[in-house]
Order: sequence, then C-alpha cells, then structure tokens
Amino acid sequence: MANAKIIGVGGYVPEKVYDNAYMESIVDTSDEWIVRRTGVKERHISADNEYTTDMATIAAKKAIKNAGITPLDLDLIILATVTPDYFTPSCACVVQRNLGAVNAAAFDYNAACSGFVTGLIIAKQFINTGMYKHVLIVCADVLSKATDYTDRATCVLFGDAAGAAVVAASEETGIMTTDMGADGEGALAITSLAFRDDEEETEKRIAHRKESIWMAGQSVMKFAVKAMADASIKVIEEAGLTWDDISLVIPHQANYRIVDSAVKRMGITEDKVFLTLEKYGNTSASCIPVALSEAVEQGRIKKGDKIVLVGFGGGLTWGAALLEW
Ligand code: UT7
Repeated sequence: MANAKIIGVGGYVPEKVYDNAYMESIVDTSDEWIVRRTGVKERHISADNEYTTDMATIAAKKAIKNAGITPLDLDLIILATVTPDYFTPSCACVVQRNLGAVNAAAFDYNAACSGFVTGLIIAKQFINTGMYKHVLIVCADVLSKATDYTDRATCVLFGDAAGAAVVAASEETGIMTTDMGADGEGALAITSLAFRDDEEETEKRIAHRKESIWMAGQSVMKFAVKAMADASIKVIEEAGLTWDDISLVIPHQANYRIVDSAVKRMGITEDKVFLTLEKYGNTSASCIPVALSEAVEQGRIKKGDKIVLVGFGGGLTWGAALLEW
C-alpha cells in the first residue's frame, strides 16, 4: 500500500492589511483588548475584485512548483472553503481550469476551519487505495467578504488567505495517523446562512445580513480547547509515540487563548507550537497550510521530523494528523 506524503506546500495572503488601529477606527474596540483577548495584530484583506478561486490558484501554483510536478500530474483537486465564488461550479473546477490540470477530477468540500486536515485524510484514502498518485488540497477563503464589520466580537478575528499542498503516493512515511470528527449538536455555534430563511439567525446579526458570520464565541472556545488537545493526543498515542517525538505542532490559528489552553491540556510547551495568528488572524481552513508553508520556508521543519497538524471549526468539526516530513 502506498504511503501518502506531502511533497509541496504553498501559501498566499492578499496585500491589503487591516491592523488593530484600523479596527479601532471602525468599531468600539482597542488594540489592547484585541491583543489580550485574541492575539491578533493584523489581518490581510482581499481586494474588492479578488475572490476565493483567485487566491486558491496562486497558492496551488506555489504548492505544485514546490512539489516539483506539473499541473498535468494531478489526479484530483479538492478545495475547502466556506466562501465559494459560486454555489456551482465548485471552486475546485475553476482552479482546475486556471491550472490547466486537465487530468484531475475536482470537487469542493466544507469542513470549515478543519478543512486542511480533513483534506489530508481524504487525500490519504485515495492514495492508500492506489486510485490516485497526486492529490492537490487547496484551502481558500475570503472571510472578509462574509464578515460583519459592525460586529466587534467577530470582525477583529478574521482575515483572508489561501494555502495548498500536494499529497503524493510515496515509499517514504508521510501521513501516519489521523483523527477527525463532528459534533452536529453544536451546528449553530458558528453560522453563515445560504438559502435558509431564519428570522432568529438574521436578528442575531447586528447588520442583519444572513450570510455574515455569527458565532457563540465562548462555547466555541470551550469546544476548541478540548477537541484540539484530545485529537492531538489520540494521533500520537495511536502511532505509539509521545510528545518527546514531536518537533512541531501547527494548530488552527483562531485565538491565542485557545491555543494556549489547548497546549496546556496537551502538556507541552509553546516552543513546539508554530503561530502566524498575530499577522493573519483566523483565515479558516487556510491557517494550517499557510503556517505549514512558512514553517518549511523558515527551516522549522526538517526531513524526518514528526509534526502534528490540528484544527477545529464550524460544524462543529475537528481533525488532527501526525506526519513524518
Ligand atoms: O475558526 C472559527 C472558530 N471561532 C473561534 O475560534 C472563536 C472562538 N471564540 C473567541 O475567540 C472569543 O470568544 C472571542 C474573541 C470571540 C470573544 O472573546 P471572549 O473572551 O469570549 O469575550 P466575550 O464574548 O465573553 O465578551 C466579553 C466582553 C463583552 O462585553 P461585556 O458584555 O462584558 O460588556 C463583549 O462585548 O468583551 C466585549 N467584546 C469586545 N470588547 C472590545 C467583544 N469583542 C470585543 C472587541 N473589543 N473586539
């Protein structure tokens, strides 16, 4: 059975930046509150005419280049987003066209901020069974276009980004153990509505725009800490390893306090954790691949290192993967 291994990653953030001084100018907040309660200092914001597939294509090209393959080598493109350009076609099909990846099947999926780890698990199945050799995972979101900039409890958190990875069939060890799950009882803890008409949901939103993101921050935080810590511990134990064997953890970058509490629950120190939260805020599923590609670029991950990627998000969902690089 072929192993599934990441052979190339790439990330993209748009140019425009909303720093905390800008957030202070649009809502009743302060740099001090945002930094103390979230850890975010800046978020990158897509241009008015820049959408999910535009950013996804840039990140995908970088990942393909870093993998040393061509778009024609791709068998499958899977794309995670909660802010698609269209309901149909899928963003994955648009990216397939943009790349000229004519041999690839393509579809979108939605696991919110758990999208990258979920994508690794999907890719692993296709590769382990021998069906595909190269799977491109792309995570991209223009959360700024779904953010209510009159709601101080959410608008300070979100930014836009895209991240991608090529997962290939390999004789080397790659994705070792994984865990994913969902708790639909918490489905309404983070919402952004499509066709559904729901007066209660619309009323909850300050600007009454039903597609804008609303969340019950406190209950999501509680869920996140337990889900991320427990899933990480599970993948390590399943591999017969301990934290001493792990050189880096890349968590979903939603709020510094969530990461801090999860790390304490895992029983590790923060020098094992890679964060980009301060620069980009929460960019949904792309947080992990963007951080991963920066960690690789900075030499924080070397061949043979064992790393844990762990996310949580709307759904509610979670996912963790233990990889050997
Ligand atoms: O990837 C998607 C998953 N989403 C998340 O991970 C989000 C998880 N949740 C969170 O990160 C936090 O719950 C928030 C950052 C959203 C909020 O932090 P909190 O510590 O849970 O604050 P809170 O909602 O309990 O609100 C405390 C106070 C409230 O004021 P009062 O009612 O005590 O007067 C809020 O109105 O903080 C106020 N507040 C703010 N104050 C200044 C909320 N947002 C802000 C703000 N600036 N930006």
